[in-house]
Amino acid sequence: MNTYKIAVIPGDGIGREVIDEGLKVLAASSQKHQFKIETTEFPFGGERYLKTGEILSDEEVNTLKNFDAIYLGGIGHPDVKPGILEKGILLKLRFDLDLYINLRPVKLYENVETPIKNKTTKHIDYIVVRENTGGLYTGVGEFQNKGEANEVAIQSMVYSREQVERCLRYAFECTQKRHKDQPWAGLSEEEKSKGYIGKLTLCGKTNVLTYVFDLWDRIFHEVAKDYPNIAPDYVHVDACCIYMIESPERYDVIVTGNMFGDIITDLAAVTQGGMGVAPSGNINPKGVSMFEPVHGTAPAFAGKNVINPIAAIITAQMMLTHLGETQAANDIEVGIKETIKKMKSMLVGEMGYSTNEIGDMVLEYI
Ligand code: IPM
Ligand code: MN
Repeated sequence: MNTYKIAVIPGDGIGREVIDEGLKVLAASSQKHQFKIETTEFPFGGERYLKTGEILSDEEVNTLKNFDAIYLGGIGHPDVKPGILEKGILLKLRFDLDLYINLRPVKLYENVETPIKNKTTKHIDYIVVRENTGGLYTGVGEFQNKGEANEVAIQSMVYSREQVERCLRYAFECTQKRHKDQPWAGLSEEEKSKGYIGKLTLCGKTNVLTYVFDLWDRIFHEVAKDYPNIAPDYVHVDACCIYMIESPERYDVIVTGNMFGDIITDLAAVTQGGMGVAPSGNINPKGVSMFEPVHGTAPAFAGKNVINPIAAIITAQMMLTHLGETQAANDIEVGIKETIKKMKSMLVGEMGYSTNEIGDMVLEYI
C-alpha cells in the first residue's frame, strides 16, 4: 500500500476550516482506494508570528522537503503589516522549494454562476501555467534618494533563460498530457488537419517589455519545435483579459510570467464562480509540491463554518492527481461536481449549506 507523507499548514483565518474538509475527503478517499495519508501539521502563519516572532526558518523549510506534498490553507493576518508573511512564508516556500510552476486550472462547473453572459461549462475550461519563482517577484530593485523630491523606485522583472525554458517545457507537457486521449474540442478544422491536439497560448507583452518577453517569445518558439502537435499561440496580456471575458473558449492552456499570472488568475477565478472554487498547485516537478486554494484567509469569516471549502477540496484532488492517485482524484471530482449541483451558490452566506456540510456531501460520494 502506498503511503503519502503530507505536510499540512492550515495557516490563518479560514485556512483551518477549509483544510479540515479537504483532509476529511482525503482520508475517506484513501480508505476506499487503498493508500495511506500520513499528515504532519505545521503552525506557520500570522498567529504564530504574532505570538513568537517566528516567520519561517530555513530549517523548517528543509523539514518540508521530506514530505511527498504540502497542503496549505492560507497565510495572512489583519494585524500583520502587508508583505511580511507573504514574503516570509508563502514566497519563501515558493523560492526555497523551487516551486517554479503555479498551476491554476480554470473550470466552470455545472450549476456555478459565472458573471459572463451566455458562457457555460463548455466555454470556461482552461489551465493557466504561471511561472512562480521569477519576474517581478524576485525582489530585485531599489530606492534612489528615498524620501527626497527626486526619489525613484525600481523593481525589476528578471528572468533567466533557464527559468523561462523550464516553465515553457512544463506548459507544453501539460498541454500534451491534457489531450493525449482526445484532441481539444476548441481546435479549428484547419488546426486539426495540421495534426494539433491542443493549443498553448503564451501571454506576454512583447510590444512594451521588449527584453523579458522577447526572451519568452524566442524560447517559446524554440521549445514549440519539440511539440509539433501543440498549436503555438500568442496574446498580449491586456488583450488576454479581454478574451478571458469575451471568448474564454479560445483558451486551452495559457502560459505566462509570474506577475501577469497573478493578475489574470484572479480575473479567471471570478469567471469560474469566484474564489470559492479556484484551486492551485505550486509545483516542483522534481521535488515536493505545495497545494493551496487561490483564496486568502478571509479573517472576517473565520470559525463561523460559513466559508466555501470547495476550492480546498479541488486543491486536495489536484494533490492526489500529482501524487499519481488518478482514480481517487477522479472519484473526488465526481463528488465535487455532484455537491456543487446541490449548492445554491458558491458565495459565502448563500451556499445553502455550512462548510462542514459541504465536506460531508463530497464524502457521501466517496
Ligand atoms: C497568489 C497571491 C500571492 C501572489 C501573494 C499573497 C503574495 O496573490 O498566490 O496569487 O502574489 O502570488
Ligand atoms: Mn494572487
